[in-house]
Amino acid sequence: MIANQHWDPERYAREARFVAELGAPVVEWLAPRPGERILDLGCGDGALTEKLSAMGGLVVGVDASAEQVAAARKRGLDARVMDGTALDFIAAFDAVFSNAALHWIKRPDAVIAGVARALKSGGRFVGEMGGAGNVAKIEAALVRALDRRGLDGQAASPWYFPTPEEYRRRLEAGGFMVERMEHFPRPTELPGDMAGWLATFAEPFLNRLPAAERPAVVAEVAATLRPVLVDGRGKWMADYVRLRFRAVKRGAP
Ligand code: BEZ
Repeated sequence: MIANQHWDPERYAREARFVAELGAPVVEWLAPRPGERILDLGCGDGALTEKLSAMGGLVVGVDASAEQVAAARKRGLDARVMDGTALDFIAAFDAVFSNAALHWIKRPDAVIAGVARALKSGGRFVGEMGGAGNVAKIEAALVRALDRRGLDGQAASPWYFPTPEEYRRRLEAGGFMVERMEHFPRPTELPGDMAGWLATFAEPFLNRLPAAERPAVVAEVAATLRPVLVDGRGKWMADYVRLRFRAVKRGAP
């Protein structure tokens, strides 16, 4: 969902399948009913879009990544390339669903406004994203590694991890009533190692560096994080923190 971050569907399937697997509770919060029209915002390779469809939803997936949309279409899904800040649907959906995509978009009000336009009155917006504190140790190590090389590490960060208070305020200002919101740590076991995670998710940092320097930076960041994120079994546990919410679009007064 962001410039400078390229999604390779094969690598994503290998390193990031957990993203869809751990999205099951968000599907429960959505509780889709057969025949409902649902927009999956930031559908990625369509793993959860397919689930929503199998539950009887009439689902459209959108994603800014043409590669991921192509992967979703291979599953037979209606998936379209679209920028999350420029959704072009009007009162077309009963629900908008989003898992692990909203934190890639640094213009949250534009997203919320597009979601509000896309929903019918009374429609629900159910999502999960990284919340305040998400991957804080990983992000700090990346920022330090870039700073040390004379770059502005913080400016390289592509991520938006709001507090629940901030996101609730934005939803309410955008015409939603928040029914439920939870902010909680979810330490997440990685299928591979930190190098694999960085290659999959941290391109906007690494791309600031000459290609020849990147392997050394990845090794340095992994070495910094090893003592804090590798557990007693030798497994990498990423310091994920989630912000999960269910909101309803208010009707006209
Ligand atoms: C997340 O799902 O929270 C996330 C994934 C990759 C980078 C940053 C956050």
